[in-house]
Order: sequence, then structure tokens, then C-alpha cells
Amino acid sequence: MEIQGNAYLITGGASLIGSHLADALLAAGAAEVRLLDNFTLGSNEMIAHLLGDSRVCLSPLKLSHYYCVIGDGVGWLGSAIRMRIV
Ligand SMILES: NC(=O)c1ccc[n+]([C@@H]2O[C@H](COP(=O)([O-])OP(=O)(O)OC[C@H]3O[C@@H](n4cnc5c(N)ncnc54)[C@H](O)[C@@H]3O)[C@@H](O)[C@H]2O)c1
Repeated sequence: MEIQGNAYLITGGASLIGSHLADALLAAGAAEVRLLDNFTLGSNEMIAHLLGDSRVCLSPLKLSHYYCVIGDGVGWLGSAIRMRIV
């Protein structure tokens, strides 16, 4: 998959996996990575290292409020269920 120069949306972008996906896309040369998260489970700490990158844009929104997606790919990680070790 060609990543260089492309734009991506990651729902649940402030999660553990979302931030790692953002790291990987940026390292592979993505031109834009938009992180969408309502912060019910995600956190600013998880994405603090990303916010200084001019290619990263944070949208603190609910999935249901996001109607228009323009880009080359979507990482759909937004979820209301947190994985737990039991
Ligand atoms: N952690 C794991 O081992 C694991 C394994 C398999 C799959 N997953 C899936 O990967 C994804 C990320 O998991 P994780 O463990 O990194 O963190 P997580 O479960 O905390 O991630 C969910 C993220 O989605 C956000 N979110 C929830 N509802 C939202 C809404 N309506 N609008 C916008 N954002 C919303 C939360 O704030 C959070 O940042 C989840 O979908 C999870 O089910 C995780």
C-alpha cells in the first residue's frame, strides 16, 4: 500500500493502538494524519508526542458528528469497549 504523500483519518486516534498507527503512517511518509477521538477512553498523553507534527490534526469529536471524510485511508479504531485482562 502506498502511504507516502497520502492523507489518513484514524478514529479512536487518541487510543494506544490509534497513536501507534499514527506513528507508523507518519514514519512511512503520510502527508496528513487526522486523529478523531471523543476522549471517553483516549487521552492527550497518548498523542502528546504527535501534536507538534504539522502533518497531524486533532478532531476532538464524536464519530456520529463526523460526516465528511476526505483522504486516502481510514483506520477505524473508535470503540466504546476497552480491552481488559481478566
Ligand atoms: N488493545 C488491544 O489489545 C486490542 C486488541 C484488538 C482490538 N482492539 C481494538 O483496537 C481499538 C483501539 O484499542 P485500544 O486498546 O488502543 O484503546 P481503546 O479501546 O481505549 O480505544 C478506543 C478509542 O475510541 C475512542 N472512542 C470511543 N467512542 C468514540 C466515539 N463515539 N467517537 C470518537 N472516539 C471514540 C476512545 O476515546 C478511545 O480513544 C479498539 O477498537 C479496540 O477494540 C484492541
